[in-house]
Amino acid sequence: MAGRIPQHFIDELLARVDIVEVVGSRVALKRSGRESKGCCPFHNEKSPSFYVNPVKQFYHCFGCGAHGTAISFLMEHDHLGFIEAVEELAGRAGLEIPREGPEAGPKDRRDDDLQALMTNVTQHYRSALGEDERARTYLKQRGLTGETVNRFALGFARNSWDDVLNTFGATAAGREALMATGMLIERDAQNARGAGHYDRFRDRVMFPIRDARGRVIGFGGRIIDQGEPKYLNSPETALFHKGRELYGLYEARQALRQVARLMVVEGYMDVVRLSQAGIHYAVATLGTSTTPDHLNRLFRVCNEVVFCFDGDRAGRAAAWRALENALPQARDGRQLKFLFLPDGHDPDTLVGEEGKEAFEARLETAMPLSEYFVQGLLQDIDLDSVDGRAQLAEKAKPLIARVPEGVYRELLLDRLAREVRMPAQRLGQLLGLTHRTDDAGQGGGLVGTQANGFPGGARVATASSGRPARPTLGQSVSPGRGNLVRQAITLLVQHPIAARGVRDGGELDGVERPGVALFLEMVAVLREEQIGTAQLLERFRGREEHPALERLAAAESLVPDATSATNELRDLYARLVLEFGPKQRQDALLTKAADLGLSPEEREELRQLQAKLRPKHPAAS
Ligand code: GTP
Ligand code: MN
Repeated sequence: MAGRIPQHFIDELLARVDIVEVVGSRVALKRSGRESKGCCPFHNEKSPSFYVNPVKQFYHCFGCGAHGTAISFLMEHDHLGFIEAVEELAGRAGLEIPREGPEAGPKDRRDDDLQALMTNVTQHYRSALGEDERARTYLKQRGLTGETVNRFALGFARNSWDDVLNTFGATAAGREALMATGMLIERDAQNARGAGHYDRFRDRVMFPIRDARGRVIGFGGRIIDQGEPKYLNSPETALFHKGRELYGLYEARQALRQVARLMVVEGYMDVVRLSQAGIHYAVATLGTSTTPDHLNRLFRVCNEVVFCFDGDRAGRAAAWRALENALPQARDGRQLKFLFLPDGHDPDTLVGEEGKEAFEARLETAMPLSEYFVQGLLQDIDLDSVDGRAQLAEKAKPLIARVPEGVYRELLLDRLAREVRMPAQRLGQLLGLTHRTDDAGQGGGLVGTQANGFPGGARVATASSGRPARPTLGQSVSPGRGNLVRQAITLLVQHPIAARGVRDGGELDGVERPGVALFLEMVAVLREEQIGTAQLLERFRGREEHPALERLAAAESLVPDATSATNELRDLYARLVLEFGPKQRQDALLTKAADLGLSPEEREELRQLQAKLRPKHPAAS
């Protein structure tokens, strides 16, 4: 990736796009006063508690607590990274993203060019399919409807050595771009026909592989009728990384409002055929076994992943490989399951024969990872012999070691211990693992617990061990009225324009109260730039205070409008100065006076402070 995206661009972007439109294009919204509301896409609900506020440019769900800016929404809803979300919004607004830093520019533009080429090639293949009776008949025979073909943008590579070459490779630059996307193969000079290029994909049904944002980054091509190889994939390119991409993930997210589970199958055709049958949550790896990277992606989308394999030998071997790769990703709150199909069937044929309901009934019987793990380990092992137990220990040790330390690992160990009828502690020792029972003070034990279904929602803070907790804003903040600093920050977050009410003359500089430094920083930012809630929040993305600020933005408003916010903040600031400023300084001087003594200047300062802080009308108070 190229250089940093400048903050002023984020400001402009959020000023140009409207969160109500962004959310509204993905969730059905209705006007409700000044806000819009709908059913929350982040949890299951029948009556709407999801609100989008056009003034704050902020969404909030009163049901599950999900909230954030338009950028957060795309990150959570479309499962995009920060940069991807910004790109998506910029595309919408027709803005080009400027970059800061040495790497800025060229590479991005190049990727964009390659991307555009892939889009054009996809279109080309689609029209070729429209013109080719034989290819269309083939897809029809395989049970696909026109609707499915369109949804997956299937196409056809003509039986030609130079169709794509001639269409897109008229210039040297064009050929170079085709090479870079893997669409051409280079022929060297030794070849009888001389140096040159030819089309990689010929006479194949083409499956475009799309990234998280729906951009075509590669292809899989299936030969029509007989031929070798049966499937041909794009090579690794700047755009396409097989170990990371999953075929069908984009389409799944397009088809489903909420993805509750994902099923990993082996082939392109399986994904497409399942989707046509109404099972939209299937994805396929691209001729590789499932990598930890894949799993990470899957678990960013949902908490349940089912691996689906043939029941034959090859399928079982592949399943065990998948298990080995999955272990580092296993943890509490994530469900990993294994489904074995009857011998000789793949999801494509099976769902064609028995339909959606019967197929989904099979899914209910899928084996949890822990069970498959134990079953696989115990295979061919005689637990009654000493040898057998040693063998088991040897087999299990490297596998369990791959599971992150934590609750899930303990569970696996317990499960295995029960099976071998041995105390878990003892088995742990045998495997060279320390089996922790209840040392909650260790802190690390629960870190793996990420059962958090709503990434935008409340996140459980894990207490760090040892050190006493510093009073941070994050801990003291709860919605509604609270201490003065919190109220002041809440006002700023909800009505950034109120910052003009603060005449910051340095009265609070150096005050070491939780939140004061943050408050001053926000005031400084807001007096320099006229930005709204969403932009202000984006400036704090990635910082410790960010979640707390988001919660404050979501909290009920303390005042009805910007004018009262400004007045209120002016008042709050005065009270803050009164409470913390001089008084804090006075306390510090008094302490110093007792410890080290004061300089003449300090003594004078203290005298003035005391005069200022003395109640003006003692009788009245
Ligand atoms: P159909 O015969 O079209 O139903 O395909 P299938 O999905 O049943 O085929 P198979 O089970 O043979 O292959 C599953 C997946 O493995 C395919 O989707 C491809 O990704 C990959 N694959 C299969 N054959 C080849 C091959 O010859 N070369 C490569 N690179 N990948 C293959
Ligand atoms: Mn098949």
